[in-house]
Amino acid sequence: MSSGMLKIEWAAQYMPVLAAIRKQFEKEKPFAGMTIGMALHVEAKTANLVTTLAAGGAVVHITGCNPLSTQDDVAEALNTVKNVHCYARRACTVEEYYEAINKVLDAQPVITIDDGMDLIHYIHTKRRDLIKKVIGGCEETTTGIHRLRSMAAEGKLEFPVVAVNDTPMKRFFDNVHGTGESALTSIMITTNTLIAGKYVVIAGYGYCGRGLAKKAHGLGAKVIVTEVDPRRALEAHMDGYSVMTMEKAAALGDIFITTTGNTSVINGKHFKKLKEGAILSNAGHFNVEIDMGWLHDHADNVVQREGIETFMLKGKAVHVLAEGRLVNLATPKGMGHPIEVMDLSFALQALCARFIAKSGKKLKGGVYDVPQEIDEEVANRKLSSLGLSIDSMTQEQKKYLCSWDIGT
Ligand code: NAI
Repeated sequence: MSSGMLKIEWAAQYMPVLAAIRKQFEKEKPFAGMTIGMALHVEAKTANLVTTLAAGGAVVHITGCNPLSTQDDVAEALNTVKNVHCYARRACTVEEYYEAINKVLDAQPVITIDDGMDLIHYIHTKRRDLIKKVIGGCEETTTGIHRLRSMAAEGKLEFPVVAVNDTPMKRFFDNVHGTGESALTSIMITTNTLIAGKYVVIAGYGYCGRGLAKKAHGLGAKVIVTEVDPRRALEAHMDGYSVMTMEKAAALGDIFITTTGNTSVINGKHFKKLKEGAILSNAGHFNVEIDMGWLHDHADNVVQREGIETFMLKGKAVHVLAEGRLVNLATPKGMGHPIEVMDLSFALQALCARFIAKSGKKLKGGVYDVPQEIDEEVANRKLSSLGLSIDSMTQEQKKYLCSWDIGT
């Protein structure tokens, strides 16, 4: 068996929820006669989503959503699966990246599944011939949803898209635990340095930031949080972390992880204050959070190591991991989120794609929440795969929660 197929099989063992959905899809064939276009990180867990959709009758065309996150052996293995076509290649040029997006769109997908909104953006700007053909889409990540909501607010989103990212079964697990564990794992494996006792600066105390802070603290780090939202800053303070501006944190931090979805969060004025040997990394979707342009313009010298660029700034070394791209996926050994977490996220994707296949034609252009029954179905399937049972409300309890005149 090829190395890519062995990786796909390894992941499959830890994806019981997706496996159950696949069995159901094999019988129901909800995508019979449909082409699905995908732009996701092409690695073993994603491959299991792809084969699940194909088992449901779809012809799947997929490419990457980040030039550094593709695992070439998995991409190769996917191309041996019936009704699957994969165009992703690691370390492709920007031109090749968009060529691959175009190839997916040449297949005329009726459903899109994005992580960062590249397919939907391309369809609405450069491939408008496809707009009428697309029934709808699913979007995986926070940054993609931000962009989609901006489009929808301007009335420019012309088909329905399910905000898979925004549902509890995604954010509570994928963003918090997935990013939390995998970004730290990637930093440790790439640098082989210790977290314990270090100042770890987390920029952004959203879902990803909370997970990162908690896990870095668990490893013995002294965690500093930077924020722009006063409520989240206060939450970080009461969760026990130091809160300060990036300008102050820059002078203290040993390891930095940005996860804001925003741009230039660590920039020229901060680089000047960094300690010798500071390690910078980004876990946000795009490579805009660390101002890489400034570093390239101002460095006297740049030393390249596997997954690490060292910028010499007037004799001071500043290390940046994975070119400032998603550190959990874009370092040479980055594996992305733990498999069990992606089992949940991809179970949501599979069921939301089925929802679009069934009901998309009835929906107008816009961003839609994941239907509650899908969110609950994934949670219930996961609980039962773990052998866990929970209580259910009695009639009396249901009535109590719906009444207003409860007496005092
Ligand atoms: P979120 O919206 O819950 O949190 C972002 C936080 O950053 C907010 O609290 C916001 O106030 C803060 N922020 C914004 N600008 C800031 C600035 N200049 N300085 C400090 N804080 C600032 O978003 P979430 O879900 O935590 O996602 C964050 C990013 O991570 C997004 O780009 C998302 O797409 C990406 N993501 C990455 C994953 C990965 O595998 N690495 C997985 C999931 C999400």
